[in-house]
Amino acid sequence: MKKIVKILGATGSIGKNSIDVMKNFTNRLELYAFSFGYNVREAEEILKRFSSPYIASLKKEDVLYLKKKYSFIKEVFWGDEGIKELAQIDTDITVMGISGAEAIIPTMKAFDSSKRIALANKESIVMAGPIINRLKREKGVEIIPVDSEHSAIFQSLVGERREDIKKIILTASGGPFRNLSKEKLKYVRPEDALRHPVWHMGKKVTIDSSTLANKGLEIIEAVYLFEVSLSMVDVVIHPQSIVHSLVEFNDHSIKAQLGVPDMRLPIQYALFYPERTDAVVRPLSLFNRTLEFYPPDPDRFPALSLAKEALMFGGTMTTVYNRANEEAVRLFLDKKISFIDIPKLIEKEMEMHKNEIIVAPTLSEILEVDRKVKRNIMNQI
Ligand SMILES: NC(=O)c1ccc[n+]([C@@H]2O[C@H](COP(=O)([O-])OP(=O)(O)OC[C@H]3O[C@@H](n4cnc5c(N)ncnc54)[C@H](OP(=O)(O)O)[C@@H]3O)[C@@H](O)[C@H]2O)c1
Repeated sequence: MKKIVKILGATGSIGKNSIDVMKNFTNRLELYAFSFGYNVREAEEILKRFSSPYIASLKKEDVLYLKKKYSFIKEVFWGDEGIKELAQIDTDITVMGISGAEAIIPTMKAFDSSKRIALANKESIVMAGPIINRLKREKGVEIIPVDSEHSAIFQSLVGERREDIKKIILTASGGPFRNLSKEKLKYVRPEDALRHPVWHMGKKVTIDSSTLANKGLEIIEAVYLFEVSLSMVDVVIHPQSIVHSLVEFNDHSIKAQLGVPDMRLPIQYALFYPERTDAVVRPLSLFNRTLEFYPPDPDRFPALSLAKEALMFGGTMTTVYNRANEEAVRLFLDKKISFIDIPKLIEKEMEMHKNEIIVAPTLSEILEVDRKVKRNIMNQI
């Protein structure tokens, strides 16, 4: 029987890669519903391939236009509310590919409508990890990570006992500036930061990769997803992005997952787990390659240490880290702040929040802190 799938954020980088995987398995997967933001052209490309009866976008006119043109569309939804409604449509699997903190409510809604969430969005788990873990248990929903590092860890843990884990080792490509001096980092422009040496991703995550805030978010994501302590998570720079992450066990044996750097592989895994279906990506050749590993430089990339600090404070501090970073990235892309101002802005917001931390926040408290940090930053610049 076909698995029924919905993709939230279908027009983005994760969304398009998911669609690409699904095109290879039309006899096994059905795209029943999808959402997008404003990219109506890309949404139309999806509809030419998949006759999805339910769609949602941020703009009413876009979905009304598509409904008029494609008679198989049964119902359309629009605006933030519409995306939430679409997230509640029952499917076997939800692929969560919306970028940023805005994904948090649709992610929560997906727990009532799917038995499996293929989770690419990291911001929602960074903000609300404990709530997501509680929902996972209460509703019996599987979260299969799509982030390549967390997929690698998930794969390395299959068949292992939690108590045997010694360390989770996240690999990081190091981004385009891994060899740039502190002095030169001052003059980095958005167009330089958007040129990632290995991965082709959305703008926000590409900038995050260049500041290592992405790895910071991923440390928090790993702690929540795998329910381990911060001291059990390490980061190594691995420029070739072939080893996607590793797990060290108590006997010092290390398991890793390797593959070509192509997001379609973790997406395919999340859609079919535990089955290993026919390949969509090319095979990895082990000949004539060098694999390097070295420690990150927290002095040049302070966003990494700030993420650890946010996690040590816990509660709402990870929301502050996330929102401050998200706003800083937007300001950098708009050329309103410099590259090295990104971690400074995060640090400043975290400093201001130190006496206001809510240790075990509810979702509405998380959203309130998120809005407050956004307002603070908007009022400053
Ligand atoms: N890209 C990767 O390879 C990669 C790898 C690992 C993890 N991730 C994570 O996956 C998530 C998505 O990343 P991405 O690179 O795919 O981002 P992206 O290319 O920017 O795509 C984001 C998607 O979300 C939609 N969207 C944006 N804002 C929205 C909002 N407020 N409400 C509803 N939909 C909205 C966009 O719609 P429109 O484009 O139509 O406006 C698009 O479909 C991020 O959390 C990222 O950290 C990505």
